[in-house]
Amino acid sequence: MSIIYDENKKVFKLDTAKSTYAFHVTNDGTLLHLYYGAKIPETDITHMLRIPGDEPFVPAVHDSMGPHSFDCAPMEFPTSGMADFREPCFQLMDKYGMSACECVYKDYRITDGKPKLNGLPATYSRDGDAKTLEIFCTDPHNGMEIVLMYSVFEYCDVITRSVRVKNNGTDPIELRRLLSTCVELDRMDYDMITLYGTWARERHVQRFPLRFGKQSVDSNRGATSHAHNNFIALCEHTATEDFGEAYGFALCYSGSFVAMAEVNQYEKTRVVSGINPYDFSWHLECGEEFQAPEVIMTYSNEGIGGMSRNLHDIMRNNLIRGKWRDKRRPILINNWEATYFDFDSDKLIEIAKEAKKAGIEMLVMDDGWFGHRNSDRSSLGDWFVNEDKIKGGLKKLVDEVNKIGLKFGIWFEPEMISPDSELYKAHPDWCIHIPGRRRNTSRSQLVIDFSRKDVRDYIYSRVKDILSSANIEYVKWDMNRQLSEVGNEVLPPERQREIWHRYVLGVYEMQERLLTDFPDLLLENCAGGGSRFDAGMLYYSPQIWTSDDTDAIERLKIQHGTSLCYPCSCFGAHVSASPNHCVGRITPFKTRGHVALPGTFGYELDVTKLSDEDKNAIKEQIEEFNKYNPLVRNGDYYRIGDPFATDRFDAWEFVSKDKTEALLEYVQVLKEPSVFLQRVRLKGLQSGKYYRCEQNGRVYSAEVLQNSGFDIPDLWGDFMSYIAYFTMV
Ligand code: DGJ
Repeated sequence: MSIIYDENKKVFKLDTAKSTYAFHVTNDGTLLHLYYGAKIPETDITHMLRIPGDEPFVPAVHDSMGPHSFDCAPMEFPTSGMADFREPCFQLMDKYGMSACECVYKDYRITDGKPKLNGLPATYSRDGDAKTLEIFCTDPHNGMEIVLMYSVFEYCDVITRSVRVKNNGTDPIELRRLLSTCVELDRMDYDMITLYGTWARERHVQRFPLRFGKQSVDSNRGATSHAHNNFIALCEHTATEDFGEAYGFALCYSGSFVAMAEVNQYEKTRVVSGINPYDFSWHLECGEEFQAPEVIMTYSNEGIGGMSRNLHDIMRNNLIRGKWRDKRRPILINNWEATYFDFDSDKLIEIAKEAKKAGIEMLVMDDGWFGHRNSDRSSLGDWFVNEDKIKGGLKKLVDEVNKIGLKFGIWFEPEMISPDSELYKAHPDWCIHIPGRRRNTSRSQLVIDFSRKDVRDYIYSRVKDILSSANIEYVKWDMNRQLSEVGNEVLPPERQREIWHRYVLGVYEMQERLLTDFPDLLLENCAGGGSRFDAGMLYYSPQIWTSDDTDAIERLKIQHGTSLCYPCSCFGAHVSASPNHCVGRITPFKTRGHVALPGTFGYELDVTKLSDEDKNAIKEQIEEFNKYNPLVRNGDYYRIGDPFATDRFDAWEFVSKDKTEALLEYVQVLKEPSVFLQRVRLKGLQSGKYYRCEQNGRVYSAEVLQNSGFDIPDLWGDFMSYIAYFTMV
């Protein structure tokens, strides 16, 4: 049983294969967190609660536990204004202007499977692999109903949490914050890991010891952002890739967020995560509900690597949906870095012909095919084919590309509008704006108001018309501007602050419609590179463009960081031209292929300008991709190198779940003199078994490969790569 309620001890215990999560209901209906960590057998654990009776100068609560403070109690769902002075999950404003609130236990329900979250992306149960606990609570003072939802995915050590509130009172209420999860850890001796960055340098890893006070990452940009990802981890100071305790928290959301660890004066750590309360409020009329997004939580005592593998499994199996979830994705060529805006259908056909010869399977036409868009200064919103460029129309082009033997994909940026567009002339009020204020642009564009259904309906009808007009099998959905001057002329004042979240719900609704109308469509999300690389987007698109930085060496860090939370098989990764357009670095074609191999794989260059040698290399790379992709998509991922720690090398490995095969990838970053032997230790193999290396024919015991290591042959020069494939004998 993965969820137990011990009526005597009033303890809820949620068990995965290797972890336990537990909390207690006091006689007064307060929910107190007991434990999250390695699996424990018993439910008689309320002795773990150590709540001092009198905390000097801190308001005391007098209930059946005697006088005590909430300021140091481990709260399962902390609320605002009731003598717990730490970061709350729940805050509102009632008609009297009061913001205090409570969450008092009423009842519970345990069900098989997992219900959907209204309008939001979330993990789902497959073949009964999840159980769900709902805790029904109330605030007796104002009639708010609070439902805490926990789902247990036993097989991959994941517990998801979300919260829904309903105004069952007699007056409207303003919801001021509703964070999705709170986990109270008994100690502070953890490191926090976050993924920070900027454009072309997304999701670099930072790790630092927790200090007293609050440490957080957030976004108030309306999208997850390049600056901080909405995933955080906590691990023991001594935790490594392979050993030690690690907790991961991935928010299944794509808008403004906060993820925080707060260490209090008693050396206890509170972790919270959810929609950023900054500039947020939601008006709840009587009877109205609000659903907060889900947080995917995992615990592993097999190091940071173990944490990542749990997250990869849940995302691959229970978050990504649809036809493409379990399939190898077509190898594509995208014309962005080949042509930027300077292309027409003749150029695309030329690329398609050459790509076909090399074995590529799909042509993606990127930005610049619509309106009069010949630079990034115009036409967003004018989703009409520019027949000066696409001569004879889109269907003619797509048919020709199909005749050559390639599938066809297309780029859209549905969430944006250019002031220089027909759409803006007709509807200057359709962008997010504050009447009378300056409209700041970024990349000469404004954000279309996706909180408005009429606006969404129009944009959707344009996208649908284009997709229905030809055999288009893939869409790259781009988003290249953050939200500012957030307001509109439609919602009443008390609902203006809802626009941030309504906008995100609008994006989700649009993508859901797209997938419903075109169930075979392969959708790839993108946001100025990887600014919306999050679990929310993965529910709609099985792959996300990782970064506009396609340089193989920069990608080592970006992909290493991204892999902390997300499975490699969803990384948009392409071989691009050298010197690289972002950093000017020259790297071997082979290395570019090896670095893109764990991702969705494709090309982003002008194939017509490649040497014969590179064209032949494409054929070899495609063979490798086809051979290893099932292992990459289904296997366990192990980080071996750390590109943040050394410039010498990076390495990683995929091991099949049954441990019969393994792929080691190695990249020599900077060649050093007199390093005669580069030996790397493999991981995850089956002890007691032997493995043959395809590249050198030698048979090794798992023990030798894991304890002594595998010798990488000498590689001459910087940025060289090598792969080794092992099968169990
Ligand atoms: C940003 C994306 O990340 C690029 O790949 C490309 O599609 C451009 N936008 C097009 O404007």
